[in-house]
Amino acid sequence: MGDPRLLEISAAVDVIDAQALQPLLTDMWDTMAAENGAGLAAPQIGIMQRVVIFGYDNNPRYPDAPAIPETILVNPVITPLSERQESDWEGCLSVPGMRGVVPRFEEIRYQGFDQYGQPVDREVTGFHARVVQHECDHLDGILYPQRIEDMCNFGFLQTLLEKGVIQLQPCDDQP
Ligand code: NI
Repeated sequence: MGDPRLLEISAAVDVIDAQALQPLLTDMWDTMAAENGAGLAAPQIGIMQRVVIFGYDNNPRYPDAPAIPETILVNPVITPLSERQESDWEGCLSVPGMRGVVPRFEEIRYQGFDQYGQPVDREVTGFHARVVQHECDHLDGILYPQRIEDMCNFGFLQTLLEKGVIQLQPCDDQP
């Protein structure tokens, strides 16, 4: 946070070429794995393209978290399926050591393409929907603190844990 690139709108990928995308995707999966993250967007590693990744089978930090299929999404589009929103704690690799309460749509449809140009089209809820909304926000230059409605619900993870305000949750870019 503070790098102006994180506030930029990323460019659509014109031609989806798996070979051309591979170095970026490898870097993204490595970065996400190194942080035990739930997702990552290309601008977070300085690549201003509309590419996000997310998902895991089981995350050792969050044994109770629902699994999300490992997904590559190029040029994603999100459509809320209802007006309903829910608020929960989020973290972000680009805002290390902090957590804040962010409202997100409970149910969404997301569409896009995998690295081979094959369509991806899913309807999801809850944590899965939250992760996708968080990652796609990065493509529009939005970091989660910009979506916090009550700044009383923003703080250092270590302090929030020590004070019992939160317990470790699955909705984190990073531990
Ligand atoms: Ni993030």
